[in-house]
Amino acid sequence: MTNFSVNKERCLKCGECIEDCVMNIIAFEGQYPAIIPGKENECVQCEHCFAVCSEGAVSILGLNPDNAIRLEGNLPETSKLEVLMKGRRAVRRYLKKPVPWETISGLLDVVANSPTGRNTRQNLFTVVSDPLVMDKIKQETMEGVRSAVANYALPKGFEFYSFVVDAWDAGKDIIFRGAPHMLVVSSPKDGPSPEADTLIALTYFELLAQSMGIGTLWNGLLKWAVTAVVPELRKKIGIPEDHYIGYCMVFGRPAVRYYRTVQRGPALINRVTSLKQQ
Ligand SMILES: Cc1cc2nc3c(=O)[nH]c(=O)nc-3n(C[C@H](O)[C@H](O)[C@H](O)COP(=O)(O)O)c2cc1C
Repeated sequence: MTNFSVNKERCLKCGECIEDCVMNIIAFEGQYPAIIPGKENECVQCEHCFAVCSEGAVSILGLNPDNAIRLEGNLPETSKLEVLMKGRRAVRRYLKKPVPWETISGLLDVVANSPTGRNTRQNLFTVVSDPLVMDKIKQETMEGVRSAVANYALPKGFEFYSFVVDAWDAGKDIIFRGAPHMLVVSSPKDGPSPEADTLIALTYFELLAQSMGIGTLWNGLLKWAVTAVVPELRKKIGIPEDHYIGYCMVFGRPAVRYYRTVQRGPALINRVTSLKQQ
């Protein structure tokens, strides 16, 4: 049930909620907008009707528009966002001190607002908040890699993992970089866009976390460990079998500070100004 309702005292009858409905299931019923009878089930729950109403007259899914944050006056300045995007770094040195669970879960609740194909919102955030559990995962990962190396059982293309064991034995944690936390975002394989949905969510997570002084590291070595080299890890951390693993990230309070943005670019651009002849 969409639980769509219109506050008649507030509604300007402007039709914006009708115009902006991606599924075209809202229409005027008499003077006021309403869901077209029989179309309830087509709603993808995107809440555009709710967000586009200047007066806060529309409620859907039982949500109170007065509890939503107004955009006007509350958006970050573009120049500050630009600094965040250019100043965000791959953090490979971490403090042992954990990030409080309330901070982590608060971050993930914001990230749950990231876009997903057809607004399916099926991303699963598998997160390790307890550094002791993280230590156990590190140990088991290294044991798994070590045994694969010793038994010549590294999957084809992953032979380079032997250097991870050598580094570990020399006191260097090449996979986890000493981070106290990790995050894996996965989504059902049969969803409309699990690849994009999971990566977008992690991108949101990284930027928001770094805006709060929490370091993050996109982690291919960990992703391949979980998906290919030590696949039993996947079950142990509870990622459903029918899920596509988008990517892994480690995070925590940084033990390094960066003082300036990098200066990459310019962007590689293919500006289409006319169509090529076949
Ligand atoms: C998809 C992806 C996978 C990555 N995997 C690893 C990794 O396994 N280990 C690591 O140390 N860095 C990893 N990185 C970090 C990149 O090396 C880093 O982003 C790049 O050198 C640019 O540095 P910056 O993030 O500070 O701008 C990865 C980055 C991306 C985007």
